[in-house]
Amino acid sequence: MSTHRLVTVPLGERSYDIVVGDGALEHSAERLAALCPNGRAIVVTDKAALAHHGVRLHALIANAGLTLDLITLEGGEAAKTWDGLRTLTDQLLALGVERNECVMAFGGGTIGDLVGFAAAITKRGTGFVQIPTTLLAQVDSSVGGKTGINTRAGKNLAGAFHQPALVIADTGLLSTLPQRELRAGYAEILKAGLIADRALFERLESVGARGLSGNALIDAIADAVAFKARIVAEDEREGGRRALLNLGHTFGHAFEAEAEKGTLVHGEAVAVGMALAFAYSVRLGVCSEGDALRAQAAIAAAGLPVRPLDLPGGPYQADRLVTRMTSDKKNTGGQITLILARGIGEAYIAPKADRDDLTAFLKEELKRK
Ligand code: GLY
Repeated sequence: MSTHRLVTVPLGERSYDIVVGDGALEHSAERLAALCPNGRAIVVTDKAALAHHGVRLHALIANAGLTLDLITLEGGEAAKTWDGLRTLTDQLLALGVERNECVMAFGGGTIGDLVGFAAAITKRGTGFVQIPTTLLAQVDSSVGGKTGINTRAGKNLAGAFHQPALVIADTGLLSTLPQRELRAGYAEILKAGLIADRALFERLESVGARGLSGNALIDAIADAVAFKARIVAEDEREGGRRALLNLGHTFGHAFEAEAEKGTLVHGEAVAVGMALAFAYSVRLGVCSEGDALRAQAAIAAAGLPVRPLDLPGGPYQADRLVTRMTSDKKNTGGQITLILARGIGEAYIAPKADRDDLTAFLKEELKRK
């Protein structure tokens, strides 16, 4: 028997539900039908998601009593560009999409980000639904309304806040996901506990690697998205507290930018980034060593890397990493803003990091075995 959990993102008239569970797709057929006033579903997916889950997708649309207009992209980050956006927008217009319809993003974070942005600008905004097929997208990018594409200057630098009307996080879709991708997505679940939910962290700590499957995973996803929903409700457009969701990302993005292309998975870089954020908090004297070690142990228990030396794609250099950190989106006035922690569940925004001290710290950490 499947279990489902429902989480609401409370944003007034733009509030929406996230359905989490094994079989959440079938469970949501009626909700989907209600979001398709013209009796058709416009679904954007990629070849890999279609190959893995096409049968379930077609059955879902049929069960919802809808006809299907399917747009299948090649997949990969190549679609998340100005060219990809223009092509998709033209395709949606050619299908005669209307504002009151919901375009469905069926795939990983790349598909969700691109489709969300296309929905935000087509006819000045159509509805959209997120059906994420990776753990990373289920716990992070599908929730909260950040949409966008990559530009020549960097990742996700053009985009819009555009909230979906519904998110369906079906854990059954994760059965075809490689273990490495699953673990990488789990890093974002641990992140939620580490930022501001000590009780969630302790639950994750107690289940260890068992949290990556079955009902424990459903609960972990639902708890993490409930946490994110609370932050998004407080600070939808990242004027303040939402920046906490970037714990581990300033360090992580720097490793991703420096890594040999195609070697590093985002969640692994974030996992090491979170361990570094705690280690740097200890160095600054704001966090106990005990909490930093607990954070590190929980990350490692999920099979994730915690030391820079564990990351593929190197060798990395401290000064180059710090230069990368200088171009992070959270920064102001050319100064590096870090997300640090006073303890587990007590992350805070730390502006104006000392570049020299950060470089010295990274030099040491890059050698740590
Ligand atoms: N991924 C961070 C955020 O949604 O704000």
